[in-house]
Amino acid sequence: MRTQVVIIGSGPAGLLLGQLLHRAGIDTIILEQKPKDYVLGRIRAGVLEQGTVALVEEAGAGVRMRHEGLVHDGTEIAFGGVRHRIDFQRLTGKSVLIYGQTEVTRDLMDVREASAAPTVYEALDVSIHDVQTENPKVRWCADGKKFEIGCDYIVGCDGFHGVSRQTIPENELRTYERIYPFGWLGILVEKPPVSDELIYVNHERGFALCSMRSMTRSRYYLQCSLDEHSEDWTDDKFWEELTRRLDPEAVKKLQTGPSIEKSIAPLRSFVAEPMRFGRLFLAGDAAHIVPPTGAKGLNLAASDVGYLSRALIERYKTNSDLGLDAYSQRALARIWKAERFSWQMTNLLHLVPGASGFDQKVQGAELEYLFKSTAAQTALAENYVGLPY
Ligand code: FAD
Ligand code: PHB
Repeated sequence: MRTQVVIIGSGPAGLLLGQLLHRAGIDTIILEQKPKDYVLGRIRAGVLEQGTVALVEEAGAGVRMRHEGLVHDGTEIAFGGVRHRIDFQRLTGKSVLIYGQTEVTRDLMDVREASAAPTVYEALDVSIHDVQTENPKVRWCADGKKFEIGCDYIVGCDGFHGVSRQTIPENELRTYERIYPFGWLGILVEKPPVSDELIYVNHERGFALCSMRSMTRSRYYLQCSLDEHSEDWTDDKFWEELTRRLDPEAVKKLQTGPSIEKSIAPLRSFVAEPMRFGRLFLAGDAAHIVPPTGAKGLNLAASDVGYLSRALIERYKTNSDLGLDAYSQRALARIWKAERFSWQMTNLLHLVPGASGFDQKVQGAELEYLFKSTAAQTALAENYVGLPY
């Protein structure tokens, strides 16, 4: 067996890359360790930058997104029980699109299936070989049988816990990490959202976020401690705690109901450099993680894929390695901007365990400055809607 590019992982990064390459006439195979329904059952990000929307459209998977996605021209930040609006359109001329990662994944899977490009689900024990030669190989097991495929390039889109980054010798990678001493407890509910826009809440009991997937489906998050388990949070306990953290107007509008999903995500910042080892490239969460406060994880995965797909297409069309050689540096320049923004938003909005009275006062002063300063709001809005790449 032989193909041009082996993609490991069928999250948004792998699927988007697969479709962009397919449309340029480049053969790929995607190897995914989980069943398809499991991948589609993961509830994750919900905010798409315009650059991400453009790439999904370029991949031929944008029809439902354009139709069902909600355009948001701003967001609200609540502090001391008062909400303040950050007007993205006025400050940057741009908006974001609310459309769930699950839906992006489904649309990309549908176009891939229609194009008959191969995806192997439940590909177990994936291993990567000979990436420093011109004939790299990938091996895996499926249905009790062993497989091997040769290729020109391998792209690791297999998330933070995947095999690709771990294949790179430790002395070839530099890693940078910050683990935050709290997590997010998320809940999905079949009820209209409390507001037309997202509300990020800084509250003395901890951070909260009112988000949505559509005008009939809401997503809420609560800052929780790392030793908590989602099973210990009944729906009633969740709504009670959320109600404590929201302003009276939001509480009046809040429609509670049975949760259709509930999970806890830890918060982490992580970067591995460089994002290439021989003919193996890393993209998305395989190379970097941001805490979700800046809504950047999925958007960074998409922008990596934007750079890498162009570089691979250039390689096959013109035989030039320039784009591939520049990939890691280009992607990392953008990644560090998003790392900075996500770290800053996380520090600005959470109750940090162990923070002194001084730290808390400075956090409050920073929020007050943001609400008064057009320059500070512009900086936040520019980063949130996505710096051009
Ligand atoms: P993933 O979506 O992780 O996809 C990787 C794929 O590779 C998976 O399908 C996995 O099964 C597969 N895989 C892993 N190992 C192997 C292997 N050895 N062999 C084959 N396949 C393998 N971002 C936000 O912006 N907002 C959010 O609210 C938000 N919430 C999140 C909640 C959680 C629990 C997590 C984990 C992430 C969240 N993120 C959020 C981040 C965002 O979802 C990710 O940045 C995005 O999914 C990255 O896409 P990806 O394709 O790089 O990785
Ligand atoms: C979400 O809707 O899941 C979401 C939205 C904004 C964020 C994080 C998560 O910053």
